[in-house]
Amino acid sequence: MRICRRYGRRWRRKYLDQILAIATIPPAVNQIELHPYVLKISLPLLEYHKERGIVTTSYGGLSSIARFPGGPVDPVLARIAARLSDTYGKPVTQAQVLQVWLRKKGLPYVTTTSKAERMMEYLQSSELPDITDEEEHSIDAAGSQVHHRFNICPWMDDVE
Ligand SMILES: NC(=O)c1ccc[n+]([C@@H]2O[C@H](COP(=O)([O-])OP(=O)(O)OC[C@H]3O[C@@H](n4cnc5c(N)ncnc54)[C@H](OP(=O)(O)O)[C@@H]3O)[C@@H](O)[C@H]2O)c1
Repeated sequence: MRICRRYGRRWRRKYLDQILAIATIPPAVNQIELHPYVLKISLPLLEYHKERGIVTTSYGGLSSIARFPGGPVDPVLARIAARLSDTYGKPVTQAQVLQVWLRKKGLPYVTTTSKAERMMEYLQSSELPDITDEEEHSIDAAGSQVHHRFNICPWMDDVE
């Protein structure tokens, strides 16, 4: 119960300000949509979390391939997946690259699937080596070229 009381989802800075001003139990975690196409707009919120000791967790991490395929991030993921496949000696998918990208940023993520084989793919992501700084930044840069958010709600619009 104590953990649930310290869990937040999709809170923007202005609401966190209001909560932190009066909370006797401050939020420990804020779970937000986070993938390459919303990284740029989320940076101030990530910094806000860091300054106040709130852990950012992510959902929607696979959105660039699952919801907005065909965008500028795709070829970058393909290049990195090919490089990692060579290094690792086994096929590495673009979904796994996105999961390693989130891990490299220190962002715990939740995901989901309706397919058993994809569940195995997700689990194997934890065994993959890190991507390089250059690879991480190339995903960031490609994602910053366009903006897509799938989970739009009145209190989480695009003014973070
Ligand atoms: N806090 C909140 O406000 C909030 C909001 C939304 C979601 N969530 C939660 O977050 C968790 C994660 O859900 P998510 O949808 O955000 O996860 P996600 O990791 O962004 O997407 C998972 C989806 O990606 C699909 N997928 C995986 N690899 C793919 C590929 N190569 N090509 C095409 N599609 C691919 C899967 O489809 P298949 O089923 O076909 O494998 C699955 O439906 C869920 O538990 C959800 O309830 C929380």
